[in-house]
Amino acid sequence: MQRVKLYDKTFRTFITNDRIMSAIDDVAAKINDDFKDCEDIPVLLCVLNGSIMFMGELMKRLSFNCQTVSIKLTSYEGTNTTGRVKQAMGLTADLTGRRVIVVEDIVDSGNTIVELKQILADHGASESRICTLLLKPDAYKKDIVLDYVAMEIPNDFIVGFGLDYDELGRNLKDIYVLDE
Ligand code: IMP
Ligand code: MG
Repeated sequence: MQRVKLYDKTFRTFITNDRIMSAIDDVAAKINDDFKDCEDIPVLLCVLNGSIMFMGELMKRLSFNCQTVSIKLTSYEGTNTTGRVKQAMGLTADLTGRRVIVVEDIVDSGNTIVELKQILADHGASESRICTLLLKPDAYKKDIVLDYVAMEIPNDFIVGFGLDYDELGRNLKDIYVLDE
């Protein structure tokens, strides 16, 4: 087991890169299956910054024509959610009439995806689906259907593979959990 120190906190390895890759293989296969005969060009919406690594790995496994758009939302301070979702950067393209696959790093309380669904509806997307690398089922209290979930984890704070603790840890290739 490996440990990393980010500011005042120590984290230990929790999900290895190999396991992350095979979970992404599986979720990409499901998406490919659902979109294989599509006649439109679906949009992958990268929710910055947490989803950057997942987005890169997911995209290269998708076999239908798709486009990428980004948005930046923030809700966490340190290891806790503030409960408020702020739009730090708006949508980078017009999504009117488009089918959108939201690519999220993690669904925790669900506040962010509620906000995203609303933003996409307001911008005229014809459909929005949620694809998340991670889900904390014990924290998720919303009714929105999560179309594609790569992995479920307990209600612990994690970093790595794009996820951060106050902007540190995003570059770690494995996922680490707070070691208390
Ligand atoms: P939600 O709005 O509570 O569902 O939280 C979603 C966002 O909070 C995610 O997209 C992450 O950016 C961040 N987040 C939630 N849980 C964690 C975690 O354990 N580590 C790092 N970031 C997290
Ligand atoms: Mg996120």
